[in-house]
Amino acid sequence: MRIERRSHRLPLTLCPPRGCGEGVRALSPARPFRCGAQISRAPPQSRHCSRFSFLRTEPDDMATLKEKLITPVGAESKVPNNKITVVGVGQVGLASAISILCKGLCDELALVDVVEDKLKGEMMDLQHGSLFLQTHKIVADKDYAVTANSKIVIVTAGVRQQEGESRLNLVQRNVNVFKFIIPQVVKYSPNCIILVVSNPVDILTYVTWKLSGLPKNRVIGSGCNLDSARFRYLMAERLGIHPSSCHGWVLGEHGDSSVAVWSGVNVAGVSLQELNPAMGTDKDSENWKQVHKQVVDSAYEVIKLKGYTNWAIGLSVADLCETILKNMCRVHPVSTMVKGMRWETWGMGLKQLLTFFYKFKALGTNLTKLSSYSYVYSNSILKQPPINTFHLIFTSVTFL
Ligand SMILES: NC(=O)c1ccc[n+]([C@@H]2O[C@H](COP(=O)([O-])OP(=O)(O)OC[C@H]3O[C@@H](n4cnc5c(N)ncnc54)[C@H](O)[C@@H]3O)[C@@H](O)[C@H]2O)c1
Repeated sequence: MRIERRSHRLPLTLCPPRGCGEGVRALSPARPFRCGAQISRAPPQSRHCSRFSFLRTEPDDMATLKEKLITPVGAESKVPNNKITVVGVGQVGLASAISILCKGLCDELALVDVVEDKLKGEMMDLQHGSLFLQTHKIVADKDYAVTANSKIVIVTAGVRQQEGESRLNLVQRNVNVFKFIIPQVVKYSPNCIILVVSNPVDILTYVTWKLSGLPKNRVIGSGCNLDSARFRYLMAERLGIHPSSCHGWVLGEHGDSSVAVWSGVNVAGVSLQELNPAMGTDKDSENWKQVHKQVVDSAYEVIKLKGYTNWAIGLSVADLCETILKNMCRVHPVSTMVKGMRWETWGMGLKQLLTFFYKFKALGTNLTKLSSYSYVYSNSILKQPPINTFHLIFTSVTFL
């Protein structure tokens, strides 16, 4: 070992002796640095090189407080373990973000939007709550580079329904928005799962799948996860039992033409339809059908009252993320491809996406075979010709 004192110039050089690989400039010619013989013009010290601080020969006057405090023993990994991105920081995006943060699901949260001031403001506001969260990194930018290496990308960007407006009415405007967003998402996180939330969610999930080029098990729509949650809440209200003990599924299009699967409604395995065979029909004196009608009407009602819906969808999005990231193998009703499944051969003409059960597994997904449900569902659909508009709608977007 020898000590070499730098004279006048402060060259850009690599951190000695093994180097962190980044070009760094010496802080001061006055500070010598003891290093390997092969690096004769090493900088006296460098902000990148604190892991070699044990090589310093003189008092460390120029070191920052952080460098004095911390002596790293290895290079820091720049790749997050469980990163989630939310595209669109409107009401739904923010409710999803805060629900994810409160559940401590990710080590890094990235936010993207086109409105820069709002984006920065929301990011700062969330960052200021870091003490109360378990996510140490919250970042935001309109450049999608900020989303790199995400495990899940949640897309909530685009327009929302106005009072009395149907979800289907949003399709063309949101397809245009997605044409810009999805290629960027895939560019920076080619291995992610995309979770579509924007409406009309079933159609936009299909559009996303087409635009992304990802396998169908990595593009999912929030589908009827929210509708089923609303159904279970309303059922719970009638019975005075917590929603988690009230089981029931709403499938089909998220929204107006969804279908309640009455044969599957149960509490603790006790079928309610067996107790009340008229359940879900017009002959039912207790009018349980109204529960499903309330589910369909609920978004319209909330939008009329407060202008948008956000908390329930945010919580349900976080619930889906938890299932995926923790590999919980739970079953959810989400939008996915049904092409090639049994019911296609039943002449339904539904070739594309519908909400259906998905059993999530690791970062892929496997369809579960719940044929009794699909049978009930298909029967319901066949009795409801208007749902065939799905087919027409999908046909109209298959130009993509
Ligand atoms: N699937 C569901 O169950 C469900 C429930 C509620 C709402 N939604 C849908 O979620 C969507 C968002 O609703 P919201 O209430 O948050 O709307 P919002 O208007 O509050 O927010 C939309 C956000 O998207 C951003 N945005 C627009 N274009 C963008 C682009 N190209 N890139 C990035 N960001 C962009 C806007 O700046 C805005 O911040 C709507 O389509 C709504 O219908 C779905």
